[in-house]
This record gives sequence, structure tokens and C-alpha cells, in this order.
Amino acid sequence: MKIKDSPLDGPLCRYHEVCDDIQEVVITADQIQKTVEILSHQIHEVYANDTRVVIPVLLQGARHFADDLSDRLNDSKFQFVPVKVSSYRGGTRSTGQVVIHSTETLDIRGQAVLIVDDIYDSGRTLTQVKAHLEAQNPAHVKTCVMFEKACEHIHDVPLDFVGLPVPDDFVVGYGLDYQDRYRELHCVGTLKPDVIATEDRYEDAQSIG
Ligand code: IMP
Ligand code: MG
Repeated sequence: MKIKDSPLDGPLCRYHEVCDDIQEVVITADQIQKTVEILSHQIHEVYANDTRVVIPVLLQGARHFADDLSDRLNDSKFQFVPVKVSSYRGGTRSTGQVVIHSTETLDIRGQAVLIVDDIYDSGRTLTQVKAHLEAQNPAHVKTCVMFEKACEHIHDVPLDFVGLPVPDDFVVGYGLDYQDRYRELHCVGTLKPDVIATEDRYEDAQSIG
């Protein structure tokens, strides 16, 4: 793809050198923003009768999505709470254990809870975070992801709000990173093979959510 004419150009991409690493844009910034708009309407409707909704935002990946959602929901009953989640995953593939930090201060007893994450891949992260929060006796826990990867979800968890499907590839942008880069892209794309370290093409390493 010719990146110069793509939606990665101009104000949609703050760092031009990053654009050069993108192989193909799979979701444009415009598609993302329209989808966030739709999701925010759905969330408004589902929680119309609730007076407080606690929204744990799984960092780092879901931060951009949560910021956009929060702007659109624009209602103080939605309480966005950052939650740090470390997942052991391959440089480009999900592998192992999930460690959940800092939910102790969240008082969710009897509350409506909506977990917000960037992408649903193996399902491991959402499954474990959901179980962890459910053990604290909330009224109920629902889930919202911006992207659903077209792959077999090893850990199945019901998704209540889903943005867009993405191909079963490693993708970056809109919060999704490779080695902590590319999160700032306003669109989502695949990386050129030469950008991905040789060891990450085949082996597992640790990186953070
Ligand atoms: P899980 O495999 O569903 O547990 O996904 C775990 C986490 O891995 C997600 O919340 C993302 O932060 C990250 N992740 C999964 N797939 C990708 C990808 O294609 N690019 C970047 N990060 C990803
Ligand atoms: Mg994540």
C-alpha cells in the first residue's frame, strides 16, 4: 500500500516515521470514530436506568478507546477507572499469565461494572479480569472491546459491546502496541515484516498489555 495517499497521512498520524512501518491499514481512523459513536449510544441505552456505572479501563491498550468513549458518554455516572493489567504475551502473539494490579481500591459491591479493553484475542485477559471483579460482588459485570480478532478465542467470555472485527494478524494503532510503539496511530494496521524482531516472529517474549 502507498502510505502517502492513505488515511495515515497528515493529522491522522502524528509521527510520520511510524507510518513507514505500516504494511496495510486495516481500519481507518474514520471507521474507528464512527464505531465509538455507535458504541457510546448503545452503552447509554443499556445503562439508562443506572445511576452509577464503574468502568475499569485495562491499561495501556484501552486508554485511547476509553478517552474517546468518555468524551462521548459525557455523563458523570460513568466512572472510568484505570486498571493496570500485565499480560505475558509473545511479541506478536498472546501466550500466558495475566497479572491484575490495583483493583483493591475499586468499591464495586452492588455496582454495575463495564470492563473496557482494546482487543479480544485469546480472551484470557477479559476472562481473568471479569472473574476477579465478579468475586467482589458487583451487581453485574459486562464487557466492551473495540476490536475482536477473527481467531479462535481459547477463553470464551461473552462480549456485551463489540466495535469492529480485525483480521487474525498482529495489528497496531489506536492503543495497540508493538514493543510500546504505535499506540498513537489513529488507525489500525499491520506491521511490515522487517519491523518485527526475528525472535518475535516465532518465539515468545514478555510485554505489557
Ligand atoms: P487476550 O489474548 O485476549 O488476552 O489479549 C491480551 C492483550 O493482548 C490485549 O488486551 C492487547 O493488549 C494485546 N493484544 C492482543 N492482540 C494484539 C495485537 O494484534 N496487537 C497488539 N496487542 C494485542
Ligand atoms: Mg490490553
